[in-house]
Amino acid sequence: MAENLGIEKTFVANVFFWFLLISIQATNAGHKDGGFNQKLEVEKLLKKLNKPAVKSIKSPDGDIIDCVSILKQPAFDHPKLKNHKIKMRPSSYPKGGDDILEKVDMSSKSTPIVQLWHQSGSCPEGTIPIRRIKEEDILRANSIQQFGKKNFKSPPFRSYAKAQGSQEYATVYVRGDDRYYGGKATINTWNPSVQFGEFSVSQIWLLNDDDVANTNTIEAGWQVNPQLYGDNTTRLFTYWTDDNGKTSGCYDLLCSGFVQLDAGVAVGASITPLSIYGNQSAQAVMKLTIWKDIKNGDWWIQYGPEKVIGYWPSALFSQLSYNATVVEWGGEVINTRANGQNTATQMGSGHFPVEGYGKASFFANIKIVNDKNQMVSPNNILTSIDRPNCYDIKPDYSDDPKWASYFFFGGPGINPNCP
Ligand SMILES: *[C@@H]1O[C@H](CO)[C@@H](O)[C@H](O)[C@H]1NC(C)=O
Ligand SMILES: *[C@@H]1O[C@H](CO)[C@@H](O)[C@H](O)[C@H]1NC(C)=O
Ligand SMILES: *[C@@H]1O[C@H](CO)[C@@H](O)[C@H](O)[C@H]1NC(C)=O
Repeated sequence: MAENLGIEKTFVANVFFWFLLISIQATNAGHKDGGFNQKLEVEKLLKKLNKPAVKSIKSPDGDIIDCVSILKQPAFDHPKLKNHKIKMRPSSYPKGGDDILEKVDMSSKSTPIVQLWHQSGSCPEGTIPIRRIKEEDILRANSIQQFGKKNFKSPPFRSYAKAQGSQEYATVYVRGDDRYYGGKATINTWNPSVQFGEFSVSQIWLLNDDDVANTNTIEAGWQVNPQLYGDNTTRLFTYWTDDNGKTSGCYDLLCSGFVQLDAGVAVGASITPLSIYGNQSAQAVMKLTIWKDIKNGDWWIQYGPEKVIGYWPSALFSQLSYNATVVEWGGEVINTRANGQNTATQMGSGHFPVEGYGKASFFANIKIVNDKNQMVSPNNILTSIDRPNCYDIKPDYSDDPKWASYFFFGGPGINPNCP
């Protein structure tokens, strides 16, 4: 009898204990931003983005590269790509575009794309390398919804509305009566110093702002972005949006949309070699070409003379599915003015353009694709410089046969003339 009573007491106590525990958990989930629900949401996103790997490679920079079947990549989760038939190669190329630069001296530096993870292995045919997303990558974002997206919305195109606040640009661009169908450049690669929560990019933009509030952009180049990637290495990146970054699009393969094709190139992975300041024979470059496939409207991106990285299907866009209104080249940094001053985040090599080759960062051989599908040097190039004492640009549009259209750009950020 007495024993039975003991058991009953324990039972009651146990029920009470569990009731208490469940109440506490429910309270936590309800009140705290984070906790149980957040963990579930992070796990769900990881499961969605990290596709089953055929093989995994540990890169020296700490990344894990998953070799994922080309048909199982995140792109095909996009609702607009439900019935998309993957294309393995472009069906059209722009005409001309003979690279003067390939024939002259800097070509010796135009090594094939090298990414740090290549030191640890390669992905088999039929798969593509994808940088695995870790829980901490998502937790570094301002929110789970914000992961992989830009924290700073681009202002309406800068020729008529200079960036206010967070972005600072030093770029050249074309914005003519004609529409554009591609762009190209040889981009000098560096490792600028960047504050957490900010980034420094050197890139090509193609944009269509016929509907300004929903500006469509395609962007690619290199960037240092500690909040996004968790370190300060220089990485190849791609970006797209169909609505000025409001809800659609993202960097790399951090959402569905961009179709990656090459077994050797992972968007979002670190690149090497980088340029060495003060050494003219140690200037590294990446050559990027983006163009519209005139047969089906997809936008392709190629690295160097032969490596097709992948494409943005035409179906992703409302305006870029037709054409681009602007092609732009150069640098952008985020300046959060954390101490009420300009940031120390550097652009380009972190040195002003006046220092020239070997010290200042450059773009060379900039080209556009015109409405006759020809790759040509751009005319009527304009500049967009927000604070020349912080980050500047020194354009030279002469068709110097050695460089074609080129410019130096960049800067150190905060200094006595850039408070
Ligand atoms: C990146 O560089 C900044 C500025 O030099 C430094 O404060 C930060 O600790 C570095 N971050 C990482 C993850 O290495
Ligand atoms: C400049 O770079 C070249 C090529 O990487 C290298 O061989 C040379 O030693 C470097 N010179 C100096 C002064 O560091
Ligand atoms: C360019 O794109 C716009 C949509 O942004 C479209 O209305 C227009 O017809 C296109 N122009 C040409 C020449 O294709």
